[in-house]
Amino acid sequence: MWAMIGTWRMALEGIELASKILEQGGNVGDSIESAIKYIENFPYYKSVGYGGLPNENMQVELDAAYMDGSTFDFGACGAVRNIKNPISLAKALSKFDTNNFLVGPGAENYASKIGLEMVNMLTDRAKIHYKNRLYEENQTNEKKDLKPYIGHDTVGICALDSNLNIAAGTSTSGLFMKKQGRLGDSPVLGSGLYADSSIGAASATGLGEDLMKGCISYQIVMNMKNGMSPQEACQHAVMSLEEILRKKRDKCGDLSVVAIDKDGNFGVATNIEGFSFVYQSSNHPAKVYVTYQEDGKTRYKQASDKWLEDYMEKRMAPLIKLYE
Ligand code: GLY
Repeated sequence: MWAMIGTWRMALEGIELASKILEQGGNVGDSIESAIKYIENFPYYKSVGYGGLPNENMQVELDAAYMDGSTFDFGACGAVRNIKNPISLAKALSKFDTNNFLVGPGAENYASKIGLEMVNMLTDRAKIHYKNRLYEENQTNEKKDLKPYIGHDTVGICALDSNLNIAAGTSTSGLFMKKQGRLGDSPVLGSGLYADSSIGAASATGLGEDLMKGCISYQIVMNMKNGMSPQEACQHAVMSLEEILRKKRDKCGDLSVVAIDKDGNFGVATNIEGFSFVYQSSNHPAKVYVTYQEDGKTRYKQASDKWLEDYMEKRMAPLIKLYE
């Protein structure tokens, strides 16, 4: 049995590609790196890798992480510029006993030293988004709130290989217009991801500042350890975090999570409308699901052809320059 789950529709092609590695008995880490690299390289996803939207200084700063649930190897990089595939750096760093989490120029120097490809990650499309945002803010004389994207934010992938190894990986450009150096949950162990091959793995997407307050991925894996199914574990973690944040702070940002257990069963939960995810396993073809809420719980259904068409059309639509 092998299985893979990823946040958002954008995980589809990466998971389909990486599933070939798992199908042939390959390693879970290679499959996660391959899936996330595909997504990082696709220029129309404005929340991950090449084409990711910049910070308030028009610099693309990326975060990524990788955790191996069999060895507990963990590697991460944060606020890195010009690294084509941050997930490859995170995975490379996971092999060491120290220096596992590098940020900024130190991470960039190390990536270059080990021969990772360095490129300017700011696309013309991302520049238009940035300049349009400044234009809109100038027009209203008001700064817009920083919010996760609806439709595609962090890509988080959890996988199980046929040798029963489980791992998780994440990659993101974080919040559009964030402060230089800002890190979200995605590279933070226990928040953006967690994996333990004897239990399962989880990964999160949404407002990093709030997801971190619940160490949500660790919480989901512990929920599974305590006997919950992946679905119950995800639902419980999201509902509890939302409840406590509303109680203490009167507000709660977007929280969406996916998980798998050691048998390849999956779970998903969210507190937003429009969260999508992709699941594939040795006995289940790759499918995109869209979530909805019913009786206070997250449910999901397979995405319709129309939904899938609209999704890509929206991502790839020509951009209008407001500022010209
Ligand atoms: N979840 C992505 C971020 O907050 O940066």
